[in-house]
Parts: sequence; C-alpha cells; structure tokens
Amino acid sequence: MSPEEGSDAEAARARRIRARVFVATILAGAVAAGIVVRPPEVPSLISLLFFFVIIAVTEALPIKLPRARGTVSVGFAMCYSAVLLFGPFWGGLLTALGSLRQAELSGKVEVSETLFNRGQLFLAAVGGGLVFQSISGGSLEGGQWLLIAATMTGGITYFGINVTAVVIYFSLKMGADPRSLVLNDIRWSIPSYMGLMPIAYLNVAVYGAVGKLGVIFFLLPLLVGRYAFQMYSQLRDVFVSTISALAAALEARDPHTSGHAERVSYYAVRIAKALQMPEDRVELLQYIAILHDIGKLGIEDQLLRKPGKFDASEMKIMQSHSQIGANILSKIKALREGASWVLHHHERYDGDGYPKGLKGEQIPLEARILAVADAFDAMLSERPYKNPMTPAEVRRELLRCRGTQFDPDVTDVLVDLMDNTDLVQPHLHRSAHAEESTGDEARGGSAT
Ligand SMILES: [Fe+2]
Repeated sequence: MSPEEGSDAEAARARRIRARVFVATILAGAVAAGIVVRPPEVPSLISLLFFFVIIAVTEALPIKLPRARGTVSVGFAMCYSAVLLFGPFWGGLLTALGSLRQAELSGKVEVSETLFNRGQLFLAAVGGGLVFQSISGGSLEGGQWLLIAATMTGGITYFGINVTAVVIYFSLKMGADPRSLVLNDIRWSIPSYMGLMPIAYLNVAVYGAVGKLGVIFFLLPLLVGRYAFQMYSQLRDVFVSTISALAAALEARDPHTSGHAERVSYYAVRIAKALQMPEDRVELLQYIAILHDIGKLGIEDQLLRKPGKFDASEMKIMQSHSQIGANILSKIKALREGASWVLHHHERYDGDGYPKGLKGEQIPLEARILAVADAFDAMLSERPYKNPMTPAEVRRELLRCRGTQFDPDVTDVLVDLMDNTDLVQPHLHRSAHAEESTGDEARGGSAT
C-alpha cells in the first residue's frame, strides 16, 4: 500500500467513525424526543394501520427528479398528513416506519444508514408536528388561514430538519461538499415539497369530512399525476439520447472528431456554471453544444473528408454548416432558442468571424462560450494534421487570442478553471485519441 493509499484509507475510516457518531446522536435525539412528546392516549389502531399502509404504498412509488440524483414521492404528503392528524409522536412513528424502503428491508443498505434514516425522519416529523401544534394551538378546527400558516411552517420545519440531517450525514460519510449537495441534489426538490404541504392539509380535511375512502379517492389523482411525471421523465431521457445519437451520426462520418461534441458540451457547461448562468440555460447549452456542428450533416462527404486545405469556394461551403445547423435546430421546438447560438458559434469577438461578422456583445453569450469551448477542445486534441497542444500551450494561446478571437471574460473563466480545477482531465482526451487512431480516413484543413 502506498503512503497515499494509506492516508486515503485512514481518511475514509475517520469519515466512517464521524458518520456513526452522528447516527448515534440522531438516534439518541429521536429516543429522547419520543419520550418527551409521547402522549398518554393511543389513537385508533385501525386509523394508524390505515395511514401506515397509505404511507408505505406512496413511499414505494417515488418519482426520479430530472436534474438531481434524488427522488420525490407523494409519500411526504401522506407522512405529514399523519403528523397533522395524530400529532408529533404517532405521526413521527408512522413516518419513520411506513417509509422503510425495500432496499433497507432487504439489507442492501447499511444498517447504520437505515437507522439514521428512521431516526432523522422521526425527528423531522416530530419537529414539524410541534411547530404545527404551537401555531395552530393543537387543533384542526381553528381559523382557515391560521391552519394554512401552521401547516406550511410545520412542513418547512419538517423538510428543514430532514435536509439538514441528510446533508450533514453525507458530508461526514462521503466527504461530500455540503454546498454542492444542496445545490445539485436538494434545491430541485424544494418546489415539490412546498407543493406537497398544502396537499397534506387537504388530505387531512378530506379525511375529516369523508373518512378513509376519501383519502383513497384523494390519492388516485396524485398517483395519476405521478404517472404523468414519470412519462415526462422517460420522454426527457429519450430526448437526451436522441441528441447524443444525432451527434454520434455526425461523428461517424468524421471519425477524427470522435468525442469532440461531448467534450465541447462538457467544457461549455463548466464555463456557463462558473459564469453562474441560470440552470435551465446551462441545460439548454449542454444540448446545443453537443449539436453545435450538426449542420455538417448537410455537407458532402467528399468535402467533409477532404485531405489538405480547402480552397475559397470549399471554405464557403464548409462555413455554411453554422447556418444549416441553425436551420435544423430551429425546427425542434425544445432547442429553437439555441439555434442562434449555433448560427454564431464561429463569430469572433473582434468581428472577423462568420457568418455575420458580429462583434463583441452582439454575439449571444452562449455562442461566445461555444466558440471558446470548441477551440479549446480542438487545441487539446490530436488530428491527422496536427499534434495535440499541451495544456500550458493551450493556456498561452487562449490568452493570446483573448479579446480578438475570444470573449475576454469567457477566456478568463476558462483559464481560471484550467488553473484551479480538474477541468483538463487527461483521460477525456486519451480515450478519444484511442478511438481516433483507429480511423483510417485522413482529414485535412479545418473550418472548425
Ligand atoms: Fe463549427
């Protein structure tokens, strides 16, 4: 074992111990809270059993969130309904036990993690229930607005305790950065949970007015909604696969650019995130970057694969790929907004680019990012007519072209990412070269 492996193993052991101490603290807190809030009277066992089944069924049907690694289930609304109806203790118990997942029951999840999940869910439900009771006065009969305020505040407390415990646990266990956990995995679930809080309130009202059958009827449209959302998620996956397939179709005609589109997309996303662009724009840029040269589908093979330099008329035809690409994308509703980014991805900051010779900020920001990401990958890549440049050479070239070919701000961000992050991952290019070297078709001059 090398010294680094030894210290890695040591760090992993230290993380495991810290995570276990945290689990023990959560469990002790849950037991203490249970003792404090346990009411003397027990609600109807049939009602408890009914809600246990409802929670178990809805928790077993989670929905995968498109952007995050997490899932959302309408089970939260049912758990929180139980908290509102039966109080913090019984609601917490139903939440902790009813939401046991298959993987936890079958032992696929570590026992300590299962215990952590049960403990933190109990604490979250108890916390939410206590806040609800303190605002509503412990009654479901109060004024409507007071009940709504109590439901929302209690729900936010529940969610807040849940999220805080999960973030601390995974930061301790995996050494994950808490900020990135919140930004990447938790942020997306907030609107869903906020939307499920009023549903919990309505569910309680339906249970009070109609009884158990009312809750079942109430659940049906929620499950239909879940089904529709699941269909949307699957469609979205198909959409993303179709985009990759289109890029692969293009690269199959020009094996020397294998992997180029995916890498340009990767760099463009890293730059856009560093520029703090809104998430939906980053996502669109991710897809558009994969398709930035899709217009080359409209260029004849003979020209696309021509060895040697292009003459003036051939260059003009090659340059038409940005217009052809924009035309193709403008026909796809979900990508239409990015058509102008593709149209202008060969513009230069000083106005010497094509097709329109736009200057500076006349060029859409996304097109300026694409231009830098595209050139960056081309410089780092090997082609039949050139060796790859080293990262140091690329850095020098970027700074040389800063403000002339490339947007100065975008260039600065890219150089900063090169200097301070793992942006240039050698394996990205090594694997691409291995594929490229199997291609037996030579390619000359470049319009990209
Ligand atoms: Fe291009």
